[in-house]
Amino acid sequence: MFDVEAVRKDFPILQRQVHGKPLVYLDNAATTQKPSQVIDALVHYYEYYNANIHRGIHTLAEEATTAYEAVRDKVVRFINSPYGPQSIVFTRNTTEAINLVANAWGRKFLNPGDEIVLTISEHHSNIIPWQLIAKEKGATLRYIDIDDEGRLRREQFAELIGPKTKMVAVAHASNVLGINPVRELAALAHEHGALILLDGAQSVPHMPVDVSDLDCDFMAFSGHKMLGPTGAGVLYARPELLDAMPPFLGGGSMISRVQLEESTWADVPQKFEAGTPDIADVITLGAAIDYLEALGMDNVRAHEQMITGYALQRLSALPEVTIYGPMNVEQRIGVVSFNYGDIHPHDVSQVLDTYGVAVRASHHCAQPLMRRLDTAATARASFYIYNTKAEVDALVSALQEAGRYFAVQQAPIAR
Ligand SMILES: Cc1ncc(COP(=O)(O)O)c(C=O)c1O
Repeated sequence: MFDVEAVRKDFPILQRQVHGKPLVYLDNAATTQKPSQVIDALVHYYEYYNANIHRGIHTLAEEATTAYEAVRDKVVRFINSPYGPQSIVFTRNTTEAINLVANAWGRKFLNPGDEIVLTISEHHSNIIPWQLIAKEKGATLRYIDIDDEGRLRREQFAELIGPKTKMVAVAHASNVLGINPVRELAALAHEHGALILLDGAQSVPHMPVDVSDLDCDFMAFSGHKMLGPTGAGVLYARPELLDAMPPFLGGGSMISRVQLEESTWADVPQKFEAGTPDIADVITLGAAIDYLEALGMDNVRAHEQMITGYALQRLSALPEVTIYGPMNVEQRIGVVSFNYGDIHPHDVSQVLDTYGVAVRASHHCAQPLMRRLDTAATARASFYIYNTKAEVDALVSALQEAGRYFAVQQAPIAR
C-alpha cells in the first residue's frame, strides 16, 4: 500500500475549504482531482514546447510530437495491449471513443436484423451511440438484466448472445453498481463471431486492467477519471479492426492522398485522429499514468477496496440507508450508490455540501437502470487514492445531520 497522507499532499485542491469545512471530495466517478505532477506537466508543455504535432520539423514540433507519441506507448503498457501503438486512438473521452466505434464499425458492418447486446446498467454513453446506429442500420438492441443485488443475470447471457449478435457492448465496471463478469461475456461473444467493446471508464482508473487477458476487441476510457486532464480519452482496438473500419471524422492528419473526388487514409491510428488533437491533455495524461504506475495499480485497487468496505460497513449500519449493488467489495469498485430514507438525493447532496462533503446525486446518466432499481435517482459516494476512513466518517456524520434536518422517514424514494 502507499502512504495516503503523502498522496494527499500532492493534490493542492484537497487543501481548500467548502462552506468553511475541509473539502471531502467523494465524486471521483464523475471526475478525479489532479496532483501537482499532472498540473505541472500541463503548464510545462505550454511554457516550454507548445507546438502542433506530426507536421512541423522544427525543434518544438518534434519535442511535442515525441511527447505525444510517448503517451501512446505508456497507454500500451498501462493496459497491456499486445498490439502496440497502432491499437491506441486518442479521443476526447469515453463517449467519443464509443461513438467512434458505433459510427465507423457500425456503419460498415451492421446489417438489418443484427443484434447489439448491452446491459440495463449501462451509462448513456454506451446506449445512445448504439441506439442511433441501430436505428440507421435496422439492427436491434437487447439488454441483459440485473438481479436483486445489482449483478448481471448470468443465465441471460446465453439467451441473449447468439448467432445474430454482432456486438456486445458492456461496462467493465458500472458507475452505479459493480464489476461485470466481462471475460465470460467476451468468450460468449467470440464463440458466436461477435465483437466485444468494454466501457472501461470506471475500471481502468481503479484496478489493473489487461486488455489481452480480458480478450476484448475494443476498450474505451477517459483520462479525466484517472488523475488526467479533461479532454483526453482512449480507444483501444485491435488494429485489424481499425484497418477495416472507415474513418469517423475527416480532415487534416488522417489522410494519405487527397484528390478532388476521393482520398485515401493514413495508417491507423492516425486515420482516426483528424485535425489537431488535444496535444496538451494527451501529454498530461502521460503524467497521470506515471503517477498511478508509481503507486501501483494493485495498491490503488487495495486502497479503494479498504475504503469501500469501510463505507459499506458504516452506511449499512444506518437503518434508513438503502445501498445499491453487491455488498461484496470484490465485486465493486470504489462506488457506493445509496438513498437515505425518503429524502431526495438532491437534498441529501445539498446538505452534505454544507459540511464540505461532495457526492453526486442524480440518475448518473443511467436512466434505464434507475427505472430498473425503481428509484428516480441515488446519491453516490465514489472514492479514490486520496480518500481516507476519516472522510467516510465525515460523510456518515453529515448524512445523520441531513437525517435530523429532514426528519428522515424509512421509506423508498418514489419514482
Ligand atoms: C461507466 C461510464 N461510462 C462512460 C462514461 C462517460 O465518460 P465521459 O463523460 O468521460 O465520456 C462515464 C462517466 O461518468 C461512466 O461512468
